[in-house]
Amino acid sequence: MTDLALSGPGGSFKATVTVPGDKSVSHRALMFAAMAEGDSIVTGLGPGEDIASTIAALECLGVTIIGEQVRSPGVKGWHGPREPIDCGNSGTTMRQLAGILSTSPIQVTLTGDPSLSSRPMTRLVAPLEALGGVISVSPDGTAPLVVGGATSVHGASVSISVASAQVRTAFEYGALVADTASTIDSPAGFRDHTERWLTAVGRGHWSSPTAFTVEPGSLPPARYEVPGDPSSAAYLWATAAIEPGAVITTPGISLNPGRLGFLQILDDMGAIVHAEVTGSTGGDPVGTVTVEGGDLHGISIDGDLVASSLDELPLVAVVAAYAEGITSVSDAAELRTKESDRIDAVVAMLRSLEGGIEPRPDGFDVVGTGFLAGGTIDTASDHRIAMAGAVAATKALDTVIITDAEVASVSWPGFYATMESLWS
Ligand code: S3P
Repeated sequence: MTDLALSGPGGSFKATVTVPGDKSVSHRALMFAAMAEGDSIVTGLGPGEDIASTIAALECLGVTIIGEQVRSPGVKGWHGPREPIDCGNSGTTMRQLAGILSTSPIQVTLTGDPSLSSRPMTRLVAPLEALGGVISVSPDGTAPLVVGGATSVHGASVSISVASAQVRTAFEYGALVADTASTIDSPAGFRDHTERWLTAVGRGHWSSPTAFTVEPGSLPPARYEVPGDPSSAAYLWATAAIEPGAVITTPGISLNPGRLGFLQILDDMGAIVHAEVTGSTGGDPVGTVTVEGGDLHGISIDGDLVASSLDELPLVAVVAAYAEGITSVSDAAELRTKESDRIDAVVAMLRSLEGGIEPRPDGFDVVGTGFLAGGTIDTASDHRIAMAGAVAATKALDTVIITDAEVASVSWPGFYATMESLWS
């Protein structure tokens, strides 16, 4: 566990940065390639530890991954390891694998680190059991999960109330081996990478604005180009947004609408935001995003905007502290189920820098003054808290110490060096 001391203020800058491959798309590209029989190519994979967890897990199941090449016997040829598969810190690895394995004939135990082992997994059970999938969770609704050993997998129609791309994706993967089509209805407004890819390969379609129908069948081996991660770029966008005159340009970013809530928030708060589509990959539009800093003011954030900015809400708290006035975040109780309880962790982070913040059951209110002091931030072993803290440090009045700073490697191993390079 390494503490990192960061000294602001960084001041104004003008920079262009290519950010690492998107974490959500990387997980999906690997899963899609591993379910298909044959050789697939995945370029631009995210470098973080969560993606390494997915690669290691798939290798335990009989998939060979060397560089950009994924060679698989197809999901029907996967073999079940005797030892549990360790999903590390990665909820997306665990939940997506649970979906695929629950409707497979092999039985596997999925474990994770202490953070992942405390996250809610019961939400997977009803949708997967509706397909005839087999899944058991521990008595408190968490990992270890025991999944698979299904004997009859049938089409099902389910509705879920939680806005979770991971649960929706798990169901859709599981439904690929059912005897007839299956439909999942879920709240609108969050990332739809899986559905775009299933549509592109003819294995599904939106049957209503909120319901996706999966057509069972095999997946073809394919070439996947992973775009830049908007959730990583967000730290750079925020660093520019809070510094009048600073400009950051990030090319090659996924512009999936379910990922762009944070850009909307920066725009609403008074930053200058431009997004230009330059191409597409895997059904996602891809483009260049430029953010220019301005005088920011507080806003209210709720509803669909929360769904499309969920992973960026810790960062919103930092931006809000450097804005004038109150920023309220509500409808975001899901933050309590992430790598840490991100409402408690964000409140502790801002208070340790003498920022004004009050928790709510489903969010927080930040009283922005334009200033944060120095202090020591407890990351709660959560990569997004560590990286939000580093953004806070760029303008803080004194040194900011980030405890357990290397946790940023969960999504972006070179993060601190990239931040430093903005001023060089
Ligand atoms: C993800 C979905 C979101 C997000 C997570 C990645 C995904 O989680 O917070 O970082 O890749 O599907 P939920 O689906 O649990 O909300």
